[in-house]
Amino acid sequence: MENLRKEMEKELENVVDINSYNNFKVLYFGKKGKVSELSSKMGTMDPTLKKEYGMKLNELRTEMTNALENKLAKIKEAELNKKLASEKIDISLPATKVDLGSPSILEKVIEDFEEVFMSMGYDVVDGPEIEEDKYNFELLGLPKGHPARDAQDTFYVKGDELLLRSHTSPVQARTMLAKGGNEPVRIICPGKAYRRDDDDATHSHQFTQIEGLLVDKNIKLSDLKGTVTIICKKLFGEDTITRFRPSYYQFTEPSVEMDISCFNCKGDGCNICKKTGWITIGGAGVVNYDVLRGCGYDPDIWSGFAFGFGAERCAMLKYGINDIRTFYNVDLRETKTFDRKENE
Ligand code: DAH
Repeated sequence: MENLRKEMEKELENVVDINSYNNFKVLYFGKKGKVSELSSKMGTMDPTLKKEYGMKLNELRTEMTNALENKLAKIKEAELNKKLASEKIDISLPATKVDLGSPSILEKVIEDFEEVFMSMGYDVVDGPEIEEDKYNFELLGLPKGHPARDAQDTFYVKGDELLLRSHTSPVQARTMLAKGGNEPVRIICPGKAYRRDDDDATHSHQFTQIEGLLVDKNIKLSDLKGTVTIICKKLFGEDTITRFRPSYYQFTEPSVEMDISCFNCKGDGCNICKKTGWITIGGAGVVNYDVLRGCGYDPDIWSGFAFGFGAERCAMLKYGINDIRTFYNVDLRETKTFDRKENE
């Protein structure tokens, strides 16, 4: 037994990893191991010696098992340290680039409009995209059979009463009727409109307008011009000049087309403005008396102006985009370019 102890103590020094640990265990504590071999000797032993022998053997077993387990703890610790050392984080490595999403540029332009109008005391309101013929046409001076309805190639949803709104102007009628004819109105309504247009670089069957309506006392065309001029300077730059051209809409009288000086050539003429120096951004006018009356406002007391900006058009101008379809495509590489421009 003493020889075995010495042998084990020596062998224990060679236990340096999991392999040598396992080998040691099998060699001494296994079923046919050297310690078991000694204990099997007890079967034939003189009973007077047996007791002491058994105690000594137990002692040896306990002592050696403890020593071996200590070794195992040390082996595990060494392995962990080795792993930690090899997995050290190199903080000098360049970081992995994370692709972040960003708001659509159309949304950004709409938010810009909202911000400027809200600073001037306007409320931002909403209206339904599936609209009744009454609001989309009739209350705006376009009764059934009116030839001007053709210009707004409309998607009908059900019979000839429900349609996808062909412009955001029905929100004017809805707002005035809701107010009841006794208080001023000051709203903008950004939203989707639909027409049976063939999609090309400048047309889409679905597009976005920013409608506006102001009703108060003594409102004149010059108030419209002043408001639009301030807005355009804020959105397109302080050196922007606005121009009104005579036009015709059933719901305004007089009616105008709103132009701004070309942001690119500043009015000299270039490809973007088709050499005219001007770019059209929407329609507007003084609210027609019949529209006011039909929506509950007495035109002898109240007057107002209304406008409709083409949101895609404004975004195209602001970001130099030449294809409207860009807004409806989800390629992040495209919108990244605009982000960069925005941050420049
Ligand atoms: N609704 C017109 C369109 O879609 C745009 C427009 C013109 C809106 C004049 C207005 C307005 O509010 O006063 O072509």
